[in-house]
Amino acid sequence: MTAESPQRQTPDSLMLFGFWYRALPSDQLSRNRMKKAMLLETPLVIGRDRQGHAFALRDACPHRGMPLSCGHFDGQQLECSYHGWKFDAHSGQCQLIPSLTADQDLKVDRIYAGSFACEERDDFIWVFVPEPGPTGAGFTKRDQPGISTPHVPTFSDRYKLAYLTADLPCSVDHGIIGLMDPAHGPFVHQAWWWRSRSSIHQKQKNFEPIPNGFRMSAHTPSSNSAPYKLLRLYASADSITTTIDFVLPNLRLETIRAGKYWFSSLTTVTPITRNQCRIDVVAAWNIFRWMPFGPGLLKFVFAKFVEQDRKTMEDQSAGLKHNPHLMLIDDADRPAKWYFQLKAAHLEARRTGAELRHPMAGPVTLRWRS
Ligand code: FES
Ligand SMILES: [Fe+2]
Repeated sequence: MTAESPQRQTPDSLMLFGFWYRALPSDQLSRNRMKKAMLLETPLVIGRDRQGHAFALRDACPHRGMPLSCGHFDGQQLECSYHGWKFDAHSGQCQLIPSLTADQDLKVDRIYAGSFACEERDDFIWVFVPEPGPTGAGFTKRDQPGISTPHVPTFSDRYKLAYLTADLPCSVDHGIIGLMDPAHGPFVHQAWWWRSRSSIHQKQKNFEPIPNGFRMSAHTPSSNSAPYKLLRLYASADSITTTIDFVLPNLRLETIRAGKYWFSSLTTVTPITRNQCRIDVVAAWNIFRWMPFGPGLLKFVFAKFVEQDRKTMEDQSAGLKHNPHLMLIDDADRPAKWYFQLKAAHLEARRTGAELRHPMAGPVTLRWRS
């Protein structure tokens, strides 16, 4: 028998169209204002109308390409700064072309600035980025997406919500596999209250396939970390269970439940360009509700984690710039392998119109030291 040698793998940094993506935090956009944003190399102008409803348009005038974000927005219509064409902010439909004379019968209402489905959910403005249409198809009315926006799981009526966001100078693939990688914890996230290198021990977790992703099955979190010890004490619950899901294209959902208390988060890694992404974490919880320092402390802890990951990926990007060969090893990198296989299966399913062929045949137990 020959020992299995690690396979060389290179992320393809393909970005997946046809999904909802977080564009920007709700509180960064006030009424009657617009902001530039970039998703999957698509420049957007995101705005909020007089009534407070968000909208998203391609940041390019259908006339001669002037960014619409350079123009004027009155809370209802956008006026291009170049020749003054006016567009409805939500539909993108052209309302006015000032240069037309009374006898010129160009059908103004058949002209559209590219518009995107846009929804607000859990403190973020989400935009649906469809498959790019055939070039030259022109600017027409958009279709409604067939899927709804992802949301943070909640388990009671009252809860608190907070978000964190950080730019990562790497492709969405590296951002995502960095997020699901269990082996970097003791090295990147060293802190006295969390864990140290000397606490590295063998772990075993069960995984199962779920639609468009996989789940780390409900388990009792590692007993050697302080936050969980604290939670167990606080909730005086016999059992604390954690479930972590990854779902295409970029969603990581974590749910911790301890009796009537719960904590959940939806983390997304959003492709901005081919080699730039952004991590957004939105957490919801009903624990520490009446303790004034609760949310602040929680945010502090989370911010620390995200900053450690961000710094690591920034350093890593210096190495990746020169296209080194990479490898993924078992079992610690198996989730990363599943991610790439899921992505390939998704693209294949889109191409053929067939069902997605899930790379996992059934439940799998992975073992690693961390
Ligand atoms: S480029 Fe926008 S109106 Fe001409
Ligand atoms: Fe991390």
